[in-house]
Amino acid sequence: MLNREDNELLTRVGPGTAMGELFRRFWLPAVPSHELPKPDGTPVRLRLLGEDLIAFRDTDGRVGLVSAYCPHRGASLFYGRNEEGGLRCVYHGWKFDAWGTCVEIPSEGVDSTYRTRIGLTAYPTEEAGGVVWTYMGPPQLAPERPRFEWTRVPDSHRNITVWVQETNWLQGAEGEIDSAHVSFLHTTLVPSEQPATVHRTITALDKKPKLIARETPYGMMSVARRNAGDGNYYWRVTQWLLPMYSLVPAYAWPVGGRAWVPIDDEHTYTWDYAYYPDRPLPDRYFQHIKSGPTFPPELDRCVYRLPNGTRIDTWRPRRNADNEFLLDREVQRTKTFTGIYGINDQDRAIQGSMGPICDRSREHLVATDAGIIMARRRLLKLAKDLQQGLEPPPAAHGAWYNVRPLDVVSPHAELDAVLEAHGADMRGQVA
Ligand code: FES
Ligand SMILES: [Fe+2]
Repeated sequence: MLNREDNELLTRVGPGTAMGELFRRFWLPAVPSHELPKPDGTPVRLRLLGEDLIAFRDTDGRVGLVSAYCPHRGASLFYGRNEEGGLRCVYHGWKFDAWGTCVEIPSEGVDSTYRTRIGLTAYPTEEAGGVVWTYMGPPQLAPERPRFEWTRVPDSHRNITVWVQETNWLQGAEGEIDSAHVSFLHTTLVPSEQPATVHRTITALDKKPKLIARETPYGMMSVARRNAGDGNYYWRVTQWLLPMYSLVPAYAWPVGGRAWVPIDDEHTYTWDYAYYPDRPLPDRYFQHIKSGPTFPPELDRCVYRLPNGTRIDTWRPRRNADNEFLLDREVQRTKTFTGIYGINDQDRAIQGSMGPICDRSREHLVATDAGIIMARRRLLKLAKDLQQGLEPPPAAHGAWYNVRPLDVVSPHAELDAVLEAHGADMRGQVA
């Protein structure tokens, strides 16, 4: 469990909060590049760490990420005209470029210098891996973008999806670290119903895996060892990377993971990435994910209205709390453990059921929660160190993120021996 104070510290992400400041020390995924397909195209509304923002691609193809509201009298720049190197507010015509500089106030005349004193909050952007990344921290501290292998492969080798999860970010992130739930939440009652692409079927057979949390410079390895019979062990090593990324083992490529990027305290963008290092994703991959059995879930493009009235342009899972995730009690009785269709639908249903911000002071943790305990300790230490002026080391080491997860059946019973035997398989190979 966490005391109330630490739970607050880890879950609040607005400007000036401890965790909000920690997130602002890292490059973060902001919007998929393909949602801003062409220069001077339609802007996208988003909310990151409690701040309302507009992303737009200017005439030269640069992506601007700026405060959503015009500094004149607060109109939303979403309605603006994206034209000739900037976004022009349609209320009184003030115009801003991708760096947030006010380049024109039509009513003031060309000689006026008033515009030089007016800026729009703007965050730097970089595009890599089909993602527009942004850094929302102090400009003089600009960190390194994480050098994930999936950000360095050609577009054809990778798929990126993002959707809204209606919980605090930490509930999603903790679900990734928690290997134990895989033996329950995602299982089927009938072996043939097991989604073969997700986990080896032994996952369901050995419900008492040995779980190990191993600290790394970039975060942690969350390890599960299951008996695989004949003196063999089934090892799954999930990489957890600060502050909120996962790389999840799969027994065959494509491999991928998730990022949990806070929209605000009670909403999260879930990013899913999947890739091959050396070849395009085949059609059968897209056919497989289309109906949402795993990640991503089935999604609808929408204008999502947050409780404070803010609207964002994003994707919402078709199975959500408003329809009880289309839980089918007959299926639950006869076919699957939950009666809920997709793996992510199951995760979101259960994580949402803990409340928008889970009260961790009321938990009763057990040995299988070791990974979660370690992750919280790392995050708390980084956030508290930052309050004392100590910068988080992973933010300055993009190369630390060039790792892979591991999914292997091995005769080795000890983690060190497995890591020694498979060390090379756990490093990204794409230059
Ligand atoms: S409110 Fe934007 S120009 Fe007046
Ligand atoms: Fe899960």
